Amino acid sequence: MAYETIVVELVDHTTLIKLNRPDALNALNEQLLSELCDALQAAQKNSKTRCIVITGSEKAFAAGADIKMMSTKSFVDAYMEDMFTEASDTIARIRKPIIAAVSGYALGGGCELAMMCDFIICSDTAKFGQPEINLGVSPGLGGTQRLARFVGKSKAMDMNLTGRFMDAEEAERCGLVSRVVPSKKLMTETMAAASKIAEKSLITSTAVKEMVHRSFETTLKEGLLFERRLFHALFATEDQKEGMNAFIEKREAQFRDK
Ligand code: CAA
Repeated sequence: MAYETIVVELVDHTTLIKLNRPDALNALNEQLLSELCDALQAAQKNSKTRCIVITGSEKAFAAGADIKMMSTKSFVDAYMEDMFTEASDTIARIRKPIIAAVSGYALGGGCELAMMCDFIICSDTAKFGQPEINLGVSPGLGGTQRLARFVGKSKAMDMNLTGRFMDAEEAERCGLVSRVVPSKKLMTETMAAASKIAEKSLITSTAVKEMVHRSFETTLKEGLLFERRLFHALFATEDQKEGMNAFIEKREAQFRDK
């Protein structure tokens, strides 16, 4: 598929996906979401890809779902086409680790896309927000659900009800992002984190991603059981033998995804 709204590059073992609608601050329209989903599915299938990074431009990760695309839709249009469900489900089904590298605006659907990734590294210029309320709508890609789970009820209510933006420092303080880095270092830091992940056994990183995601879906007791059973299952892999032997032999592990 030839892409017009994203740029995709394989850098060593990381698929780097850059949202590329600069004139609309990377607003998520149907084409962009469809190309993004296609690229993510291709990265999932590509045996060379061991980690995925989604980024935008210096000014905007993404300024939300495309308001011009949505402005004329009726309830029946939105409901019957099941707006955003396919994209949301497709992204949630990607099993390889995904990092969001956020600079500038991550608003509405942009903040929600970043939250759909496994973790967020942002630059000190990042601004997060769920300003949909200013448009007479609510978030529709997880802004009330994921934000509440990630930063707690009070801040999620504040962000969703006032529509205010949160800067990078506040985002790190409340746990929305894992790291804040100087703007110029955003991509080097994020790609370095991706390469660290790419060095691990893909079986293990896939399992760990599944375990953490399960913690948001279930009770602690069930989540701990899920974790322990997958932990037990990892002893069936050659990578477990390699990882533990490498430690004992004081050498770097060479994982083979077996
Ligand atoms: N949809 C469509 N176009 C958008 C857009 C969006 N979400 N955000 C920005 N753009 C366009 C602008 O219309 C403008 O295009 P033109 O030059 O053709 O007029 C261009 O991008 C540049 O934007 P601005 O001139 O507004 O840039 P700015 O620097 O003055 O302001 C901004 C930046 C504060 C991010 C402002 O653009 C803004 O508030 N954008 C909308 C943010 C928003 O409300 N997002 C939520 C969308 S709804 C949603 O996401 C629903 C959901 O949950 C799924």
